[in-house]
Amino acid sequence: MSFKTLKLISALVFLTFKRGVATEDSSGTVPSFSSIAETLGYDCVAHRITTKDGYILTLFNIPGNKTRPIFFMHGFGDSSRTFIVRGNTSMLVSVVKAGYDVWAGNMRGNEYSRDHVTLNADIDVAAYWNFSYHEVGVYDLPAQIDYILNKTQQNRLSVISHSQGSAVFFVLLSTYPEYNEKIRPLITLGPLSYAQNIRPPVRLLILIAPVLEVIFKALNQYELFDRTTRLFVELLCSLRPFGGELCEAILLSTAGQSDDTFKGGFIRTVINYYPVSTSVKNSLHVAQNSNSRRFAQYDYGSATNIARYGNTLPPAYDLDKVNCSVAILMANNDKLSPIEDNVMLNNSLPNVVVYEFVERSPMNHYDFVWGEDMYLILHPVILKLLERYQ
Ligand SMILES: *[C@@H]1O[C@H](CO)[C@@H](O)[C@H](O)[C@H]1NC(C)=O
Ligand SMILES: *[C@@H]1O[C@H](CO)[C@@H](O)[C@H](O)[C@H]1NC(C)=O
Ligand SMILES: *[C@@H]1O[C@H](CO)[C@@H](O)[C@H](O)[C@H]1NC(C)=O
Ligand SMILES: *[C@@H]1O[C@H](CO)[C@@H](O)[C@H](O)[C@H]1NC(C)=O
Ligand SMILES: *[C@@H]1O[C@H](CO)[C@@H](O)[C@H](O)[C@H]1NC(C)=O
Ligand SMILES: *[C@@H]1O[C@H](CO)[C@@H](O)[C@H](O)[C@H]1NC(C)=O
Repeated sequence: MSFKTLKLISALVFLTFKRGVATEDSSGTVPSFSSIAETLGYDCVAHRITTKDGYILTLFNIPGNKTRPIFFMHGFGDSSRTFIVRGNTSMLVSVVKAGYDVWAGNMRGNEYSRDHVTLNADIDVAAYWNFSYHEVGVYDLPAQIDYILNKTQQNRLSVISHSQGSAVFFVLLSTYPEYNEKIRPLITLGPLSYAQNIRPPVRLLILIAPVLEVIFKALNQYELFDRTTRLFVELLCSLRPFGGELCEAILLSTAGQSDDTFKGGFIRTVINYYPVSTSVKNSLHVAQNSNSRRFAQYDYGSATNIARYGNTLPPAYDLDKVNCSVAILMANNDKLSPIEDNVMLNNSLPNVVVYEFVERSPMNHYDFVWGEDMYLILHPVILKLLERYQ
């Protein structure tokens, strides 16, 4: 069966079921970043920023004290919504309440950053989705940081990053070390870096990534978590009676068990927006790092590597150059950012000022952003770090 046929069937199945299943649930759609902010009573301004290679990104600002800008960066397959989706108990709201000028960035390809000056994400698929977290680090981050510093007339900002949101900063700061001067501190939550000790089942996907790469290429599929995938996810998770529980179980099995990440219907809120699009190339890049045991640039194969990098192997990111103050906050039951990877990260970065677990057990990879009680446990820690290391 071809992929096109599969897409068609899944769309039909979706349309058939949607009426009877999904619309029954009044929480059918989740408000966007700005409407959540506005519902909570905050002004929210969406800024459109164009990178040097033509991607058009959305950067949200909830204005506060202009001398204290904070930049939030989400992780893999996610968007800035992750930091506000918990409503008045969201991390972003705790930081807004503390008076900071809050900026929430978006990586290329996601729900808020799908535009490009010349390419169409739905038509020019091979060219548009030809990026990994490397390009996010070298293009998307400087564009957003420079924009914020210009708007606020400040020399530096603070950063809070979740998951792959940290990897992109390590790329930026090792590639353009002058950006270390512009960041203080960099607070990483469950950072993704070496990715060598990611646990099953994601570990298994990583191991078979070379096979998946061939399949994706044959199917001409460059976008990950595209519209068809979203329809599938929404259909599966809204099937009664156990769709919600099933999706909850899948997410917990990938990120680690936790007591209450999705309790009380929060799974529906999450499923209605997550995961969001990224590129297949981005996931392959993570898998390459993991399988080669090197936190390095994208591996194009030895011939192209020689032409591109002057070496058969892609160059490793030089974490010695990441010398701004970094805080590493970990969860004790995080299958995607496990302790072994963070030990290596801590040993590679020259200026780790805080390296500790968040005091809650069990806590998984998603709890940093989605955990119900984080406003009591994690947010006060973050506010203290911001005060202390700014
Ligand atoms: C803004 O923050 C700066 C630095 O923390 C502080 O000195 C100033 O009083 C704050 N301004 C307002 C209006 O709160
Ligand atoms: C969040 O809002 C709800 C409903 O308005 C309120 O009951 C609750 O106390 C608020 N929580 C916090 C932490 O502000
Ligand atoms: C993708 O990017 C690589 C590296 O910049 C380039 O060599 C290749 O031609 C690009 N592929 C497409 C389809 O644009
Ligand atoms: C800063 O912003 C001003 C006005 O918005 C603009 O004219 C100027 O070119 C910007 N400077 C840089 C370095 O981007
Ligand atoms: C980081 O390294 C640069 C270049 O070596 C140096 O100028 C700067 O002072 C260092 N910053 C810190 C915080 O150590
Ligand atoms: C983190 O790294 C520092 C510097 O290399 C080292 O002194 C410290 O023991 C490390 N902490 C842990 C828990 O490994």
